[in-house]
Amino acid sequence: MSNDVPRMPDPVENNSFIPTLDRQGAIWLYIDAITQAYLDFAGQTKGTLLEVAAGYGHIVIKALEAGAGKVFANEIDADQLAIIKSRTPAEYSDKLVCCLGQFPEHLEFSDASFDGIYNARLFHFFDGDRIRTSLTKFYRWLKPGGRVFLVNDAVYRTIFKPLIPVYEKQIAAADEWPGFIADVGACIPEYLHPETFPKTMNFMDPTVLTRELNRAGFKVVMAGFYPYTGNFAPGRLDGREIAAAIGLKE
Ligand SMILES: C[S@@+](CC[C@H](N)C(=O)[O-])C[C@H]1O[C@@H](n2cnc3c(N)ncnc32)[C@H](O)[C@@H]1O
Repeated sequence: MSNDVPRMPDPVENNSFIPTLDRQGAIWLYIDAITQAYLDFAGQTKGTLLEVAAGYGHIVIKALEAGAGKVFANEIDADQLAIIKSRTPAEYSDKLVCCLGQFPEHLEFSDASFDGIYNARLFHFFDGDRIRTSLTKFYRWLKPGGRVFLVNDAVYRTIFKPLIPVYEKQIAAADEWPGFIADVGACIPEYLHPETFPKTMNFMDPTVLTRELNRAGFKVVMAGFYPYTGNFAPGRLDGREIAAAIGLKE
C-alpha cells in the first residue's frame, strides 16, 4: 500500500462497524437481505455495477469477488476512495473504476450505463428533493432490465428509540417524509458519540421507498423492513432496523 493512502480506522463495537473518515456515519460489517440480493445479482449477471457512497469498499470488494464484470465505486471523500483502491485485491484492479464526487449533484454517467446500482445508508442523510433527484439519475443510468438496490436505516433501533414516537406521529399526520427528524443528536447517548451523527436524518420505510421508486419509473421488486443481524446490540430492536428495496427498470 502506498504511504499516501490514509489508514482505514479499526472496526469498533465488537467488530460491528468502522467509523467513516468524514464523520458521515459508519461502514456496517454485516450483510442484510437486500445487500445479499445485490451480491447474488453481481454473480448472476457478471455485469457493470455502480456503488454510490461506497465507504471503504466493503461491498465493492464483495461484488467483485461475487463475479461482477466491473464495479464503479463512488465516494464524496477522496481519502476513502483511495482506501477503496488500495484495499481492492490486485486481481480485480482492472475491474474497479473509482469515481470521486458528491452524489447526486456532481456525479454523471451516460444513460443506460449500468446493470445494477447499489446504494446503502446515504438517503437517510438526504431531504426529499435530493432523494428524488437521486432516483431519477439511477433510473436514467440503468439499462432496461437493470436493478437498483437501496438499503437505509429505519428508525426502529434501540439507539433511535426516543425518535420512534416522533416518526409515528408524523406517519399519523400523513407527512410526506415521516422519517425526517431535525435534531437527531439530541437523542443519542454520550457514549455513542452524538457528534458523529448528522444533525438531521430522514429515516426510510418501505412505503416511502415504494412511492419514490414508482415515482421515478421503477417497478418495485421488493420493499420492506429487514432485520439488523450484526453484533452491535444498540443497533437492534425488533427486526425492523433496515428499510430496503429493489427497483427494476423495465
Ligand atoms: C453511513 S456511510 C455508508 C457507507 C457504506 N455505503 C455502508 O453502507 O457501509 C455514508 C457514506 O457516504 C459518503 N457520502 C456522504 N455524502 C455523499 C454524497 N453526497 N455523495 C457520495 N458519497 C457520500 C460518506 O463519505 C460515507 O462514506
